Amino acid sequence: MIERLHPGPVVTDADDEQLLDWYSAPSGADPWVRFEFIASADGAATVQGRAGGLGSAEDQRVLHLLRRLADVLLVGAGTIRAEGYGGELLDAPGRAWRQRRGMRPRPVVAVVSAHLDLDPASAFFADAPEPPLVLTKDGADRDRRRALERVARVIGVGERAAEPGRILAALGADGHRVVHSEGGPTLFGAFQRAGAVDDLCLSLSPTLAGSDEPRIVRDAPLPAPLGLRLAHVLRADDLLLLRYASGRG
Ligand SMILES: NC(=O)c1ccc[n+]([C@@H]2O[C@H](COP(=O)([O-])OP(=O)(O)OC[C@H]3O[C@@H](n4cnc5c(N)ncnc54)[C@H](OP(=O)(O)O)[C@@H]3O)[C@@H](O)[C@H]2O)c1
Repeated sequence: MIERLHPGPVVTDADDEQLLDWYSAPSGADPWVRFEFIASADGAATVQGRAGGLGSAEDQRVLHLLRRLADVLLVGAGTIRAEGYGGELLDAPGRAWRQRRGMRPRPVVAVVSAHLDLDPASAFFADAPEPPLVLTKDGADRDRRRALERVARVIGVGERAAEPGRILAALGADGHRVVHSEGGPTLFGAFQRAGAVDDLCLSLSPTLAGSDEPRIVRDAPLPAPLGLRLAHVLRADDLLLLRYASGRG
């Protein structure tokens, strides 16, 4: 059961349509970027290298609802390597929901990688219902690029790394707008440095994970902290689901 605590009035036992409404993207023309993470109460992004140990069934429910709303599901290569991401990423009710609204059944799945250290035979590519998109640097390793081009569409979007501005321009040129990223920390850092984060959905897990686990962001020294606006607070038992807006643009 998910309860909305803020903004009031309190709503108990929210249904999927209410949740989809509360998480909807504002209208507009430019690509809009949401990052979604889970962290422990003491700030860890993983337990023994995976985010899964922090979540709950209700957190997974929201994750699937957020995927419904996305044109593009954007993920860093490190997250694919750690978490797998093979096969269908959106459940059947989610695909049917999208089709009823004239959307394609699933979001385009895009992985960001500079080194293209991705196995074309892995489940991420082999079991993908539609060929994923690989966003890389312009001068990426030629042999690896060629191997991946057999199973994916590969685009160069930056000189030394994939640049968020160019990622969004490429996705926008394909007609996509709502970009939903499930991380990980390095990709979030790149988007923070570029000032390209519109929305952060952060699940706060009722867990203490200890001190050796990474945070949800990496490599993003900002000149000054960026303030966020709290858009909503949901509660699923002891887990909090926080939505923040950055006010970018
Ligand atoms: N708590 C959570 O919600 C959550 C969410 C996601 C992930 N995680 C955890 O985070 C850990 C992985 O961390 P991570 O920082 O490695 O994740 P990541 O950001 O998904 O992956 C980093 C890798 O992605 C590629 N990449 C990211 N930004 C890039 C850019 N601008 N240009 C080109 N390539 C870029 C690079 O791949 P190449 O090396 O191939 O060039 C880089 O090594 C895992 O343990 C995972 O479980 C936690």
